[in-house]
Amino acid sequence: MKSHTLLMPLDMHLHLRDAVMLENVAPLSAYSFSGAIVMPNLVPPVETAEDVIAYKARIMAAVPNDSFEPYMTLFYKNYNKAFLESVADEITAIKLYPAGITTNSEGGISSFDVEEMRPTLQAMSDMEIPLCVHGETDGFVMDREAEFMSIYELLASNFPKLKIIMEHITTKEAVDMLDKFDNLYATITVHHLILTLDDVVGGMMKPHLFCKPIAKRPEDLDALLSVALAAHPKVMFGSDSAPHPQHKKESCGCAAGIFTAPIALQLLCEIFEQFDKLDNLQAFVSDNAQSIYGICPEFKEVTLEKRPFVVPENYSGVVPMYAGETLSWAIENVD
Ligand code: DOR
Ligand code: ZN
Repeated sequence: MKSHTLLMPLDMHLHLRDAVMLENVAPLSAYSFSGAIVMPNLVPPVETAEDVIAYKARIMAAVPNDSFEPYMTLFYKNYNKAFLESVADEITAIKLYPAGITTNSEGGISSFDVEEMRPTLQAMSDMEIPLCVHGETDGFVMDREAEFMSIYELLASNFPKLKIIMEHITTKEAVDMLDKFDNLYATITVHHLILTLDDVVGGMMKPHLFCKPIAKRPEDLDALLSVALAAHPKVMFGSDSAPHPQHKKESCGCAAGIFTAPIALQLLCEIFEQFDKLDNLQAFVSDNAQSIYGICPEFKEVTLEKRPFVVPENYSGVVPMYAGETLSWAIENVD
């Protein structure tokens, strides 16, 4: 049987939530990933050193001993330098949300005035704290990411030493930015390597494929595939796995977020194999992230096999992408 082994897989963009949801979903990521960048959009958001330390402790308590490293983030505000110095040892990055752009982002940034942000961003740059960005404007939904490119240009050119991660990119415009600025990087989800808008709303509306940023056009999908499959050194895997209870997805006001954590590696094997690029998956799912973030995860070896895997209908009340469908790769063993 065909098999493929991945060393220290990393999920560089993950929502783990809190309380019972955290207890239900964290072990699923801890099973197949060595570590993950954990998003701070809790209610209320993770904004202080105490918040970060306490949230990390709750994550560690929810996963089997020493099986998983949560790389913690802080919710971006225009923090001052003294505060950043006091919290720097506790965090791996800071996540910036435009206010109200997605789930639990109401406390985000409402102005991208560079001078207002300069003290914070310059301090982050000096202290080598990466800035992770949800890059969407409040424009027409299909244009939101492309419209945000001018803000990435502004940030990247004003803070040339600041590592800026364009999170969960979905467009050709974002792919093209990678080679324009040395300090711009990107995460790509597995669902954005598969879906276009047609899959979400082209037939019956599919709430479990609805996320922000929404999947775009075929030419955008092609651009994302080209850099992911080539394991472009500035891109890394970040699932943006975002669990919502079933009733919040299957409702007249569907929450944005696709739950992929337990099927992500299986799907990635399927995609990379389909394009005969399995040899590049290790770089996409771990090595690039290790170089970009300068992190060194604990050893973990995940072996996948090419055999049918039926995706569970739900995981403790959270419906995953492709629930009930059969994938062609399964996780065989984790060491
Ligand atoms: O679809 C999304 N869900 N996009 C985000 O940016 C946030 C996430 C969530 O937290 O549910
Ligand atoms: Zn996210």
